Amino acid sequence: MKKLEGAGLRGQNAGQTSLSTVEQEGSLRYLGYSIEDLADNASFEEVAYLLLLGKLPTSSELSKFEDDLAGQRKMPDSLIGVVESIPASAHPMEVIRTIISYMGVIEPELSFDDQLAVAKRLIGVTTTAIVYWYNFSHKGLKVNQESNERSVAGHFLKLLRQEEIPELDKRTLDVSLTLYAEHEFNASTFTGRVCASTLSDLHSCLTAAVGSLRGPLHGGANEEAMKMLQEITSVKEVKAFVDEKIENKDKIMGFGHAVYSIKDPRSNIIKRFSEELSIDHKDKLLHEVAKEMEIYMWDKKKLFPNTDFFMAPAYHYIGIPTDLFTPLFAIARIVGWSAHAFEQRSNNRIIRPSAEYIGPEDREWVDIESR
Ligand SMILES: CC(C)(COP(=O)(O)OP(=O)(O)OC[C@H]1O[C@@H](n2cnc3c(N)ncnc32)[C@H](O)[C@@H]1OP(=O)(O)O)[C@@H](O)C(=O)NCCC(=O)NCCS
Repeated sequence: MKKLEGAGLRGQNAGQTSLSTVEQEGSLRYLGYSIEDLADNASFEEVAYLLLLGKLPTSSELSKFEDDLAGQRKMPDSLIGVVESIPASAHPMEVIRTIISYMGVIEPELSFDDQLAVAKRLIGVTTTAIVYWYNFSHKGLKVNQESNERSVAGHFLKLLRQEEIPELDKRTLDVSLTLYAEHEFNASTFTGRVCASTLSDLHSCLTAAVGSLRGPLHGGANEEAMKMLQEITSVKEVKAFVDEKIENKDKIMGFGHAVYSIKDPRSNIIKRFSEELSIDHKDKLLHEVAKEMEIYMWDKKKLFPNTDFFMAPAYHYIGIPTDLFTPLFAIARIVGWSAHAFEQRSNNRIIRPSAEYIGPEDREWVDIESR
């Protein structure tokens, strides 16, 4: 079927933001800071502060912010009951959606003055609750909700793996959260902003955004990329695998982008971690297969990996089950979604575009008996 002119609102400005810029040639900045500088120098918590409060923190501000986030991790008792009732067969993104939605029931946002506190609460509690659910539903384990880890990344990995976590593993997850934290008017953020523009509560905005992120064309691509890479058992198989997919007109998950045209700046950052982990773990196959696919996809289709592609081997190497890849994206993106909701609220007009009508001309009414 022919694609509609202007389909997907591609290339159109749908509003203003001061949170990030995504440039077609492959550059990404959060409030003016390049993603490369942020990934090299900042922690995820520092990036969250930047996005939620509009400036880089001083060390004392950062320390207080980290304390605040760590203080928000514990689940209310009734949430434990909800999470324990969700079966292992549920998709973890359904679990994330339910956690955020349920938190809106028991700890509602009573005033927009509470918006920052709500965002911090959701970053903290969602991180704990998703791992708690995973361990309970898959292994029958009721994990201790507390950890001695100060960072979101460390806390998540500690609860998941129940062992001391190597620095490289923590840093990999930490950087990945920075890369996932914000990305201008992507589908999920736009969904959340539309919801915010009705002056709805933050839990509703984030629940709506999670629904958009779940789809395989958006956040779900990291999981799909992992499943695809695991189908390939040697570097030699890559070309034939890609050829067959292209022949069948299948999408290769983790490649291509709606805005970037030659590279996704986040890809090389996470690729470096994937490489380092593959050496550290003495398990190079997955990374080598991914590298070969990157080269061949460019030669064949001029398509480049987006952030989700090398995220897949990197997450796999640090022991994250594939089902939890997209929920991690969601936890990081709570930051960007919330920042966008705050920005929308601060200068709001309800988002209500028009549609070009392409249906039938005006018609006469026909009674049911005469149809
Ligand atoms: C990201 C994505 C949704 C962007 O979509 P888009 O801007 O609408 O781009 P299109 O789907 O129109 O793609 C343009 C062309 O490239 C092809 N293409 C794009 N991504 C492709 C991929 N991953 N594998 C194979 N072909 C791809 C399309 O089939 C299309 O070809 P055509 O013009 O012959 O129909 C798309 O690249 C995609 O589906 N990628 C895989 C999913 C993914 O990794 N998502 C995460 C995004 S961060």
